[in-house]
Amino acid sequence: MAEAFLVAENLRKSFNEHKAVNGVSFTINKGEIFGLIGPNGAGKTTTIRILSTVLQPDRGDVTIGGYSMRHDADAVRSLIGVCPHELALYADLSALDNLVFFGRMSGLSGKETRAQAMANLELMGLVERAKGKVDKFSGGMKRPINLAIALMGHPELLFLDEPTVGIDPQSRNNIYETIEGLRDRGVYSISIPLLPAAANVHSNTNSDMAALDRSSYRDSGSAIFRLGTSQSRQGLFRQAQD
Ligand SMILES: Nc1ncnc2c1ncn2[C@@H]1O[C@H](COP(=O)(O)OP(=O)(O)OP(=O)(O)O)[C@@H](O)[C@H]1O
Ligand SMILES: [Mg+2]
Repeated sequence: MAEAFLVAENLRKSFNEHKAVNGVSFTINKGEIFGLIGPNGAGKTTTIRILSTVLQPDRGDVTIGGYSMRHDADAVRSLIGVCPHELALYADLSALDNLVFFGRMSGLSGKETRAQAMANLELMGLVERAKGKVDKFSGGMKRPINLAIALMGHPELLFLDEPTVGIDPQSRNNIYETIEGLRDRGVYSISIPLLPAAANVHSNTNSDMAALDRSSYRDSGSAIFRLGTSQSRQGLFRQAQD
């Protein structure tokens, strides 16, 4: 039986009167790539912020690797990497120094930081630009650096909020392939808001995906679309086109 790694139960978060996340529950199993899709404002980013311990939910809890984000947030943080929607880079540092900075912040030794930084830049095809200052990089080149930073510390679970925004189709495919390749190292979550991008990921994999609609999952009230079967895949695409 598949082993659950992340369990989100009845997550709710309101901003003033607005219910941004309204009773979201799902499980991510080990080795699974999981996607959240939904229209703008559906609550995808808010959900990821809760899952990654940035935001406390009003109700509900998340356990990752058996640790509760309410009670063991530090233990949860040691298991996750986050690639936020907004680029989180220091423009006046080189690509390498950005990775080193975040590696040291996450408690890695100097030697280990450097080794991981170079390995991650290589993974993203950026070794030749390692010493280049980030403010000289094109917009599309900055996103893989964001992803390389999220991989510092060897997270078991990776949160990606729109990891391919603003990058060309070929580079986008490279990122998807990298994420697929990373699966061997752990458990990964991916948030993709655009259907073509989602279709791209799922056309040649057995990844699972959930659709997040305004405020709650839908599919008889609490929708989780498991895309392991072509039937459920078609169901999702039909709904997403509504
Ligand atoms: N810090 C905040 N304060 C007030 N309202 C917020 C805050 N963060 C999110 N919201 C609101 O919560 C709702 C969900 O926002 P969220 O950013 O989670 O959506 P999303 O699904 O990620 O959208 P997008 O596809 O545009 O990125 C929106 O109505 C948004 O305005
Ligand atoms: Mg968002």
